Parts: sequence; C-alpha cells; structure tokens
Amino acid sequence: MKRILVISIITIIGTVAWSQMGGMRNMPDRQIYPPPSGPGDDEMLNELIRISRGGQLYDNWWKTTVDTEKPKGDHPLWKKQATNKRNGYDTFRCKECHGWDYRGKDGAYGKGSHRTGFKGVYEAAGKMSIEELEKINKGVPLKEHDYSKLVRDTDIADLAIFLKKGLIDTTSLVNDNGVPKGGNTRTGSYIFRRNCTQMCHGMAGTAINFGEPDKPEFVGTIANENPWEFMHKVRAGQPGTTMPSAIINEWSEKDIIDLLAFARTLPKDASEIGWWRGFWGGMGHHRKMHEDYRPGSGRGFGPSLE
Ligand code: HEC
Repeated sequence: MKRILVISIITIIGTVAWSQMGGMRNMPDRQIYPPPSGPGDDEMLNELIRISRGGQLYDNWWKTTVDTEKPKGDHPLWKKQATNKRNGYDTFRCKECHGWDYRGKDGAYGKGSHRTGFKGVYEAAGKMSIEELEKINKGVPLKEHDYSKLVRDTDIADLAIFLKKGLIDTTSLVNDNGVPKGGNTRTGSYIFRRNCTQMCHGMAGTAINFGEPDKPEFVGTIANENPWEFMHKVRAGQPGTTMPSAIINEWSEKDIIDLLAFARTLPKDASEIGWWRGFWGGMGHHRKMHEDYRPGSGRGFGPSLE
C-alpha cells in the first residue's frame, strides 16, 4: 500500500515537472487549422472565409444570416419578367435571377421554369470594381436592386468580394447540358470518401435527403440534375449548415470536376439505392447536419475548417 502511494506521488511530481519543462517540445501549444505559416496567412484565410460566405449569401442570404427578415411580396424587379412563376422570398435570391452558373439568361436558367430573361453577373463581375459591385446592391445605378434595407453592409461587402474573386467559369468545366468536361471519377471517389461521407452524406451520398421523403434528392440527384448548383454548393458550402467549403479549403477546379464526375455515378433516387441500403452509408446516418443543436440552427454562416 505504502509502495503504491510512493510510486503515485513520484509519478505525479514527474508529470508536473515534465509538463513545466515544456512537455513534448515539438507539439504546438495551440491547435490551429490551417496553421499560419507566414505573414499574411491570416488575412488570406480571412478573405477565403469572406468569399465563401459571399457565395452562401448569393445562394440564400436569409439562411446565411441570423439577423435578417424575409421580405414580404416579390422582388421589385420581378414584374419585369413573366416566365418564372415563383413568388415571395425565392424572387430575392441572387441565384434565382442570375443563375447557379452566374450566366443568367445565357446559361442554364435560359430555359425551363427558372427562366427570367435577366442577364448574368459573370461578365459584369470581371469588369466592375468591388466598390461598383457593392453599389449595385445598394441601388446604384438600379434603384430597384437595393438590398441595403434587407442585409447589413458587411453582407453586401462579402457578396461583392465573392463576385469579384469567387466566381468560376463553369463553361470551362461542364458543357451546356452539364456534362463534365473530363473529370476523373477515381480521384473524385477519393475526394468524396475523404470529405463528404463520414457523419454526413454517407458512402452513397444518400444519407441526407434534401427533398421530400417520397421524392428524395441526394448528392447524386443534384450532381446529375443541376451540376452548376452542385459546384456552387461544394465551393461555398450549404447555408445554415456546417458543410465545409472548397473555397476555404482551397480545392482546385480539377478537384471540383473530379468530384462532380464521381458524384454523377451515385444514386439519383430511392430506386437506385439498392444494396447500399445495407451499409451505414445508406440511409439513416444523417444526424449531424440537420440536428437542432445550436442557437439559430438552420441559419447562419457555418462551414467548418475540418
Ligand atoms: C429579381 C431578380 C434579381 C435578383 C434577385 C438579383 N438581381 Fe442582380 N440584377 C437584376 C437585374 C434585372 C439587373 C440589371 C441587369 C441589366 O443591367 O440588364 C441586375 C444587375 C446585377 C449586377 C450588375 C450586372 C451588370 O451587368 O451590370 C450585379 C453584379 C448583380 N445584379 C448582382 C446581384 C446579387 C449579388 C444579387 C443578390 C444579392 C442579385 N443581383 C439579385 C436582377 C436581379
């Protein structure tokens, strides 16, 4: 008994002394990811976070923020078109008028139920300055294009930086039908397994259903039916969730297109789940994303850096 006591005391004193001396000397004393390795890194990361947040605002600004209210009625410019029959908040989402491919009437929203005839932002964003891109959302020169009563100035600034630095030329990645130009499914499957499956989408991309129980939408559904939306959400992250952002994690365009090419091989509807159902990657492993576990859940900017 006495011996055990003596050994314990020696162990405790030894541990305390060792940790005072610096413990494992090569271990960083803070856990930071990604580790800043030089001057300017923090600013660079901060800018990537703002670009990604701007992308989420472009997708759905109400879900990306926690302090805004959904506007009543339709967007003041909505009456200038009659082809898109949606109404209410949807008419205020940037993507509804300018498209997931940023090309408006010249892109995927040039036809089908989303057609408005409004032009895209890709070319304008290339030519306009960040200040001009901020002004357009403050009603200058187009007074009906004023978001300053709906969102904060910082949101308008993040939108502008996304437009200036975060847009990609989707026509170089997919053709007019959304079929990837190239894209290595094997690399894509690796990227998917490493980043998307565990805790979230599952091995078959079916663990989270974005649609209805009887009309499910999975990763494979979006990748096939709307590759432009797929690329936008992979890059910016899904508003109101902890989905990571490829912009923040600095994936290349090749990574995105490899991932898209692979995701198009995944089940598109319930009938295609088949034998995947038996795996944990099938159905049911989907708590993390939609669980109500934090204040304002379902709203707010939240890509993790994992
Ligand atoms: C109801 C449809 C609609 C919505 C929603 C909308 N816009 Fe626009 N946007 C327009 C129209 C129409 C123009 C004017 C295009 C023109 O000059 O012909 C425009 C112009 C622009 C331009 C300048 C384009 C140019 O060529 O001068 C930018 C940039 C822009 N919008 C960004 C956004 C952003 C960011 C959002 C979301 C916060 C947004 N828009 C939401 C309809 C919309």
